[in-house]
Amino acid sequence: MKLLDVYAINDVTILKAKGSYVWDENGEQYLDLYGGHAVISIGHTHPHWVKRIEEQLEKIAFYSNSVKIPLQQQLAEKLGKISGKDDYQLFLCNSGAEANENALKLASFHNGRKKVIAFSKSFHGRTSLAVSATDNKNYVAPVNETDNVIFLPFNDEQALEDCFEENGNEISSVIVEGIQGVGGINVADDDFLRKIRELCDKYKAVYIADSVQCGYGRSGKFFSHDFAGVNADIYTMAKGMGNGFPVAGIIVAPHIKAKHFQLGTTFGGNHLACAAALAVLEIIEEEKLMGNAVMVGKYLKDELENIPELRRVRGRGLMIGFDVPEELKDLRKNLLWNQKIFTGEAKPNVIRLLPSLALKKRDAEDFIEALKEEIQSLGSGQNREVSPAINAAIQTESVGK
Ligand SMILES: Cc1ncc(COP(=O)(O)O)c(C=O)c1O
Repeated sequence: MKLLDVYAINDVTILKAKGSYVWDENGEQYLDLYGGHAVISIGHTHPHWVKRIEEQLEKIAFYSNSVKIPLQQQLAEKLGKISGKDDYQLFLCNSGAEANENALKLASFHNGRKKVIAFSKSFHGRTSLAVSATDNKNYVAPVNETDNVIFLPFNDEQALEDCFEENGNEISSVIVEGIQGVGGINVADDDFLRKIRELCDKYKAVYIADSVQCGYGRSGKFFSHDFAGVNADIYTMAKGMGNGFPVAGIIVAPHIKAKHFQLGTTFGGNHLACAAALAVLEIIEEEKLMGNAVMVGKYLKDELENIPELRRVRGRGLMIGFDVPEELKDLRKNLLWNQKIFTGEAKPNVIRLLPSLALKKRDAEDFIEALKEEIQSLGSGQNREVSPAINAAIQTESVGK
């Protein structure tokens, strides 16, 4: 049997990982500033995370949600404390798409309405409703097409007001990323998020904060939406939550209640997933990783802003993007193949940095030095010779989603 060919894959096999580094089958070391789509939050194979999972594995890995699982309550309490949303209610699932699907569904159960507002360049996942709220026609199959999703321009308060004025009593929810990830690292304006809150309150719609990529401390606050100083009704999370162990969830404001069987999952919230998620929160707290994200993120942004060839450096904490001009279009590939540094991309010309929140300043310094070197060699036309095998890989690969 062959694998279904749905990914553009880099010609590299990673066999080992530690902290911000990964190693390939030839023992070559790479600096990982991408974390496999922003998933690695506390660093690869963190010893506490490994130990907690191993210890849990010895006891019990899985039982379904038909019995009490005290680890879920422990996770809810820890999450409430670190995020500052301790009066919210936690529902656990397995992926970002599933988290958004459940959030949109719960909102609709809550207010009995059908319409969802989403924004240009949004990405909310591949399941049916999540993909319908994703602004990329290539991902939407005919069966996912629906008139229930209204797309508005991102950060456009007037368009939002007009839409609510026209359809206000039909709007079930507004779903928005605090910082768009796949869309190219676009930060939601604080005023825009406050306007969403205001209009959702006025029209009794549900404000859903998609924090799958921008959440879990990456921005320097636990949820990047928190910069606006207002609460969402539902936050969705995944990626960094398990540091690579598949675990996701939604937290739901106290005024939204669910009835039995409205939401559910077989695997969600299993013992092993909770152990992994608890280990992540323990390390975020113990190693003050949100503070580190602010500090190293600021260093990176300041340095990037001083590189004249790069445009529109943006982002918060360790979620950073910048535009690369056409003449430097091979920059990301050269960083990978020449400098052994993984970064991400967003089409057509954005480099995305989504490293572990434990990224050390000296690794960030190495990256800046390597980046300048590659910019210089591309600028001076001295694009280094690469082997035919690597060249072939360059033609086909793409790290981004
Ligand atoms: C903002 C956002 N929401 C949802 C998802 C979907 O998450 P998953 O791939 O875990 O289903 C992603 C994945 O990239 C994302 O960036």
